[in-house]
Amino acid sequence: MIDIKKLVRKNILSLSPYSSARDEFSGTEGIFLDANENPKGDHNRYPDPHQRELKDVLAKVKEVSPDNIFLGNGSDEVIDLIYRIFANPGKDKVIICPPTYGMYEVSANINDIEVVNIPLLPSFQLNKEAILQTIKEDANIKLIFICSPNNPTGNLIDGIEEITKNFNGIVIVDEAYVDFSPESSKVQEIYSYSNLIVLQTLSKAWGLAGVRIGFAFAQSEIIALLNKIKPPYNISTVNQEHALLKLLKRDEFEAERDEILAERKRLEKELLQLTIVKKIYSSSANFLLVEIVDENGVYKSLASKNIVVRNRDSVIKDCMRITVGTKEENDVLLAELKDISK
Ligand SMILES: Cc1ncc(COP(=O)(O)O)c(C=O)c1O
Repeated sequence: MIDIKKLVRKNILSLSPYSSARDEFSGTEGIFLDANENPKGDHNRYPDPHQRELKDVLAKVKEVSPDNIFLGNGSDEVIDLIYRIFANPGKDKVIICPPTYGMYEVSANINDIEVVNIPLLPSFQLNKEAILQTIKEDANIKLIFICSPNNPTGNLIDGIEEITKNFNGIVIVDEAYVDFSPESSKVQEIYSYSNLIVLQTLSKAWGLAGVRIGFAFAQSEIIALLNKIKPPYNISTVNQEHALLKLLKRDEFEAERDEILAERKRLEKELLQLTIVKKIYSSSANFLLVEIVDENGVYKSLASKNIVVRNRDSVIKDCMRITVGTKEENDVLLAELKDISK
């Protein structure tokens, strides 16, 4: 068993967190004269800092205990908080496996944490030998970020347990796209590994990118640390309400997700008919990584028609990442690409 406390920055361990009078009062009815709020208005009260109602519903959806859930202002906030708990600026390091989601590196740079890049293999799987060797040799490596399904490659990542088992640090598995994947999530693995954090979000399959809610699942010791350092009211009342309503509509969620998956299949099939499309990588997410002849030129032509895709040529040569849109949006894209193909 890993002693999580030994991995935590000293200033965070000794920190006295912000506490409000509402933390000491657990009822919902009362005369609230403690927080300098305006007594009138629709959203005049501060939100529940513990998001109890939302966590109770999410706990049922994900089959975990509410004590194993942390809610952030998007996963991006959670990524930043993880650095601030576990990595000492100017001293500690993080392993990132590019090509992958850009915020792991940006957040490391903001926090002055050195990035050790161990690129994915040509199969887009982890270079396990290199990772195991590096963590054995360098005790300053505190964090490893693994994105599965990975953005922008779209594939699921194997071998996460082996890394987690052998690492005296924190493994973060970012499952932003897991709801689109045929494989199950690693969420239940948090009960086997005290050094594992699984991230998910409402921004993708749940269709609430504007609401900014990301989840971290982990053992309660890590969740308590995240709660200790988060801004007290990081999830607004409006956003908590939106999220709650959506989580209660599981049927709607599943129908929307299935529609996106069907569109992904159709888009892939149609794209493969085009002479400019050289290859489409198999995807477990809501996007396709497509290798294209003259990718930069095609990207610019699409942009000139107000069709915005993600140019990934700088990270994977000649590749473009295309998010699956509505049927109508995908039709416009396909028509434009057919024109360009000619
Ligand atoms: C892998 C991955 N993680 C996290 C995020 C951001 O999630 P959120 O909107 O919850 O901050 C994204 C967004 O593109 C992503 O691709």
